[in-house]
Amino acid sequence: MFYRPDDPNKPLKHSPLKAIVSPRPIGWISTVDKDGKANLAPYSFFNAVMDNPPMVMFTSAGRKSDREFGKDSVSNIRDTGEFVVNVVSHALKDAMNATSGAYEAGVDEFEVAGLTKAACQIVNVPRVADSPASLECKLHQIVDLPGDGNVMIIGNVVGIHLLDSAVRDGMFHATDYQPVARLGYKDYATISEVYELIRPK
Ligand SMILES: Cc1cc2nc3c(=O)[nH]c(=O)nc-3n(C[C@H](O)[C@H](O)[C@H](O)COP(=O)(O)O)c2cc1C
Repeated sequence: MFYRPDDPNKPLKHSPLKAIVSPRPIGWISTVDKDGKANLAPYSFFNAVMDNPPMVMFTSAGRKSDREFGKDSVSNIRDTGEFVVNVVSHALKDAMNATSGAYEAGVDEFEVAGLTKAACQIVNVPRVADSPASLECKLHQIVDLPGDGNVMIIGNVVGIHLLDSAVRDGMFHATDYQPVARLGYKDYATISEVYELIRPK
């Protein structure tokens, strides 16, 4: 079939876009507000955008009624210029889901989900202590996108935390830390099998 996103007849119940652009990594974004109160929320419109210098991005859709700019994560990053991307392991999937609720500004989702905070080295934002990897980020740019409150946040990665037990032979092994990926609809996947391909010269 051919599907046009703007077809008023809606031939599919849901847009297939998120099922097609999948699996997506989940950026579990921690921030603090102006008063130092922590916030944590998952964003799967998330990816690395540059290896050297290391940079990541996520996009936030829509605006919360109790915020001037977008969602809590976006407001906090506008105020402080800092955020942390935590990786969601299979063991943390339910806690990640619990942090996605539309809580009021000022609610600490670490507490909602019963998660332990760990200090960062460079940014003044807590990370998820049990997360297998966390990226400390400084804001590079906020790009306004079409749609009310829609923005892309681009950050420079200034520090990387890794679960020691998943580092072997100088490499970080996904089968050890089992990252959760977002698929379409309500679906998720966990990496359990990995293979190598050798690129042509
Ligand atoms: C797995 C998952 C991925 C999500 N990805 C996004 C996303 O990419 N962009 C977005 O705006 N909201 C996304 N959400 C919804 C936000 O997590 C949700 O709106 C949350 O309340 C935002 O929190 P905040 O206001 O504390 O930033 C996602 C939710 C889940 C469960």
